Amino acid sequence: MSVDCRHIDNAPVFNVTLKGSGRRFAVAAGETVLEAAQREGIALPYSCRAGVCGSCKAILLDGDCGYPRNPPVALDASARAHHAVLLCQAVPASDILIEAREVTSVEDVARRRLAVTVARKWALAPDVVGLHLVPAPGEARLRWLPGQYLDVLLADGKRRPFSIANGPGPDGIIELHVRHVAGGGFTSWVAQSLREGDTLHIEAPLGTFVPREDSERPMLFMAGGTGFAPVKAIVEHFLALGTRRRIDVYWGARSAADLYLREQAGGWTRAAHDLHFHPVLSDPEQAAASGLREGFVHEALLEDWPDLSGHDVYMSGPPAMIDAGRQLFAEAGLPEGQLYYDSFDYAPDVLAQILGGRAGIHDA
Ligand SMILES: Cc1cc2nc3c(=O)[nH]c(=O)nc-3n(C[C@H](O)[C@H](O)[C@H](O)COP(=O)(O)OP(=O)(O)OC[C@H]3O[C@@H](n4cnc5c(N)ncnc54)[C@H](O)[C@@H]3O)c2cc1C
Ligand code: FES
Repeated sequence: MSVDCRHIDNAPVFNVTLKGSGRRFAVAAGETVLEAAQREGIALPYSCRAGVCGSCKAILLDGDCGYPRNPPVALDASARAHHAVLLCQAVPASDILIEAREVTSVEDVARRRLAVTVARKWALAPDVVGLHLVPAPGEARLRWLPGQYLDVLLADGKRRPFSIANGPGPDGIIELHVRHVAGGGFTSWVAQSLREGDTLHIEAPLGTFVPREDSERPMLFMAGGTGFAPVKAIVEHFLALGTRRRIDVYWGARSAADLYLREQAGGWTRAAHDLHFHPVLSDPEQAAASGLREGFVHEALLEDWPDLSGHDVYMSGPPAMIDAGRQLFAEAGLPEGQLYYDSFDYAPDVLAQILGGRAGIHDA
């Protein structure tokens, strides 16, 4: 048996077989395994689509593949030694057999492009804008699963990903929480120039950070900053279902103002059977001034739950928090299959440009 994943420039058509389900699909020349699976309507997990977050990690059981686009920086030496591959970047160099988590729940919801109108724009926090988008006249309502994200399609062909902060409802509203990043082209434009009534073009739904209902385990949610958006959507989904599973929500930010929906999240604890909300501030002065817990959000979660073997953990937010969670939660006994996440990396084109300049932007 040959198992190898190295740098190659071109690839002819090969077949991919998924070990668990036995499903099989062809990969066209130059396509990644993830792109081919999506074309065939097979949902494999992913988030950044740039090789940096690790959420598309799978095990290569047989065959060869390569990384002609971005290097697989989310794989450390140990993962490579165990034949881990990143499906968002891996291009087969032979027929391959892989072991990957399939997320069949998202397969029923077709991805599409549509024009949306900005129905409402408001300030959630000093650097966070809330947006309500509705399908433009003539467009059908969008379907999505709570926790998924959309790509805003820019005029130059680039895309900017943002999580949808609510579940689909009869009003058709799509809620976004957009943080203005320093030097960021699109988020600066949203903060300064976007007006109610303007039209945006989006592709959605995307992503596999969705509720997993095939478990009875208690759930831990960890959000950093606007990582609260998809967490909000998933928690609200479980509350609407009337789940009896215990839920703990940890939301970390620098200052109290950055926890922009703290009252709403606090309100969940009154409405829900067994939900506990834990706001955490990383700035000691801000924590002291507001009387909130001080520290990094992943450290607070681990202080409370040193053994994670019996939990399902959902996390979303900045890459540094996601990296810390991936590593430290595994050390606390969390099986990889019980961890779901979206890493709020920059857009794939920006990461590709950065990775083209240097070998790795993450420590993973
Ligand atoms: C799945 C997913 C979901 C997300 N959801 C959300 C969300 O709900 N809310 C949210 O606020 N954010 C979210 N994000 C993050 C969001 O997509 C980014 O903040 C956004 O794409 C930034 O776009 P921009 O055009 O403003 O910045 P860009 O213009 O893309 O620049 C981003 C940063 O990179 C720097 N940069 C650009 N090019 C280079 C280069 N070549 N070398 C070095 N640095 C460079 C810029 O100076 C700037 O600091 C999500 C990301 C992902 C992947
Ligand atoms: S590393 Fe592949 S989706 Fe992030």
